[in-house]
Amino acid sequence: MSISDYIIPHNHTVKKSDRVNKYGYRSQLIWFTGLSGSGKSTLANALEVHLFNKGFQTYILDGDNIRSGLNNDLDFTDQSRKENIRRIAEVSKLFIDAGVITLTAFISPFIEDREAARNLVGEENFVEVYVECPLEVCEARDVKGLYKKAREGKIPNFTGITSPFEEPMNPDIKVNTSENSLEVCLSQLIEKIMPKLSIKE
Ligand code: ADX
Repeated sequence: MSISDYIIPHNHTVKKSDRVNKYGYRSQLIWFTGLSGSGKSTLANALEVHLFNKGFQTYILDGDNIRSGLNNDLDFTDQSRKENIRRIAEVSKLFIDAGVITLTAFISPFIEDREAARNLVGEENFVEVYVECPLEVCEARDVKGLYKKAREGKIPNFTGITSPFEEPMNPDIKVNTSENSLEVCLSQLIEKIMPKLSIKE
């Protein structure tokens, strides 16, 4: 016997489908993935503002914010990144069950972990957005000054330098922030995401 043999989840009366009918849209998990500095947080923020202003309930879970609280016990080893993404996926599942459109901005460098998140919340609720941007461009931007420190050997396991990033092979949406402006990327996102929120078949 294990602990899980003694855990019997309660079946609540208000279902996700009740919330969909009441709120009039499908809450989705919009999962941004990409290198540090690629623009995940900026785009998630811009998309949230757009959706929020249209009356949707939204929330952003963001790498540096979540790592300052819920996940402040995790470092950047492969194993910790896996656990980081596992927890985010579980939290996101609760948010979308609650009817909130959830936007996540994590490097989430491993295909296997992103697929686990997709499977956890269900294919029909998951939108993978690959924020594509070449390493050289992210490094030139170096918004947080971390690439410089990583090149100096001061930050171990830095994504793109001493730790891998596995590009999505078949993302639901791909935007390229080195070739396109924020406005263009945002309108590409809006165009593809709005139909996924609709309750009309
Ligand atoms: S993930 O790989 O586990 O998904 P996450 O998105 O939570 O990463 O955190 C990435 C952010 O942490 C980066 O944007 C950067 O600000 C910071 N960071 C600190 N150390 C590292 C590192 N070794 N590799 C990548 N990002 C790091």
